Amino acid sequence: MQKGIFISVEGPDGAGKTSVITQLLPRLADYGKVVTTREPGGVPIAEKIREVILNPEHTGMDDKTELLLYIAARRQHLKERIEPALEAGNILLVDRFIDSSVAYQGFGRGLNPADIDWLNHFATDGLVPDLTLYFDIDVEEGLARIAQTRGHEVNRLDMESLGLHQRVREGYLSILNKQPDRLVKIDASQPLEQVVADAWSVIETRFFKD
Ligand code: TMP
Repeated sequence: MQKGIFISVEGPDGAGKTSVITQLLPRLADYGKVVTTREPGGVPIAEKIREVILNPEHTGMDDKTELLLYIAARRQHLKERIEPALEAGNILLVDRFIDSSVAYQGFGRGLNPADIDWLNHFATDGLVPDLTLYFDIDVEEGLARIAQTRGHEVNRLDMESLGLHQRVREGYLSILNKQPDRLVKIDASQPLEQVVADAWSVIETRFFKD
């Protein structure tokens, strides 16, 4: 039985999720034990699956294989990390969860979103986050941020996959429209301080104000 608080964090690449999560931690710590984790990964078996998925040498990976690997990593992560943290009553902050598969493999790669919903449900036994913070950013701005962090221009692959990233963002906006109670959109193009303040305000209102 779930006793903790389950928050997932989503967004296109370069939205700055990780920096925001880091800054939210001290505020959340006033309200309980905080556990942060990520997908794909978070536990050793799922981190190994992550290496297989993201290995740049694996150019021949089929789209359905990719989807199934994300789903397999999710299952293992759920059993070893998510469920125990929630049962212990922790505040759980997960960097990417079910919506990433719908946005990237569904809208991005063009796989059937209904199949992905089914697979997500199969992997999670129907567990959905209490709240999903969706960090929205213009795709080109997000990719430019990544290039800046890496210290070079947007590479050819980043540019070639612009269409995919655009479909991913559209995917997120579509999920947001369908589930407005669970997902809240945050404008991630603002200065980091403002993005953190907006995210905190949503969390505080949802969980910590009577
Ligand atoms: P990260 O860079 O946020 O750690 O995520 C790794 C990549 O994996 C990112 O490009 C998004 C992608 N991804 C999917 O395509 N499907 C999924 O289900 C998840 C969890 C991530």
